[in-house]
Amino acid sequence: MIMKKILLIFAGILALQSCDDGRLYEKEVPISSEGRTVTLRAKLTGISTWPDPSMYVVVAGFNDDSDYALINKAVPAPSVEGEEVTVQLSGIKENVTRVELCVINRLRKHILTYYTINEELLTASNEIEANAGELNVGMYNTIQERVFNTTCVNCHGAATSAAAGLYLTADRSHAAITGVPSKKIAGMNIVEPGDAGNSALYQALSTDVSIQDEWHYNHTAEVVDDGILSMIRQWITHGAKKDQ
Ligand code: HEC
Repeated sequence: MIMKKILLIFAGILALQSCDDGRLYEKEVPISSEGRTVTLRAKLTGISTWPDPSMYVVVAGFNDDSDYALINKAVPAPSVEGEEVTVQLSGIKENVTRVELCVINRLRKHILTYYTINEELLTASNEIEANAGELNVGMYNTIQERVFNTTCVNCHGAATSAAAGLYLTADRSHAAITGVPSKKIAGMNIVEPGDAGNSALYQALSTDVSIQDEWHYNHTAEVVDDGILSMIRQWITHGAKKDQ
């Protein structure tokens, strides 16, 4: 009886080991000399709002040591908004530990991420397939979601009142800022399409005007990420349009 139990335990351990082994082998597929290929599908809206050639929506490979893409391929706009596009990025070498659907600038510096394929998936095969699902990558929608919704709306509109009467909630933000005179900087609009230097919103975030002019809230630390700031500047410079 005891012998049988011990045998069973041994058998169990062996089964476990071989199972582990199996999975390990699966994980350690050697990278072919041509590198790996990622085929990424996504249903995208708003991609044509990015002001090529300043910033691009791409599928790009990175490693953890640098913010610059090691390899990248532009994502084409679907012929009909919201339709599926397929991007194939091949030649992904060993040094790439992460592949993203993301925005980079013309120097290939990473700006922001929409979807990530992690190292575990990248080492499991030489042919990686992934689906990023439905994404609105429109420039204004991205600013709304990544900037206004995450911090600004706490004071600008999510409650019953809005600081400086400025509503930055999704339903109201665009009409509340474009071509609307600033209450804080005389002679300036909150956003002047085409001219970030003359837009109170960009000035509030990128200069110390809110300290110098003793605003009731210091806005200098609101957005500290250079990439996000330059995205806001690009959006204004290229006409401050609402996504279609
Ligand atoms: C903690 C509260 C708070 C947060 C968070 C905040 N603001 Fe403000 N904001 C204010 C206040 C208060 C004023 C008015 C300052 C005054 O009257 O002196 C103001 C004024 C402004 C103005 C000037 C409006 C005008 O008519 O000239 C802009 C533009 C602005 N904020 C943009 C933003 C943006 C963009 C964000 C997010 C990145 C943000 N604010 C986050 C409190 C906040």
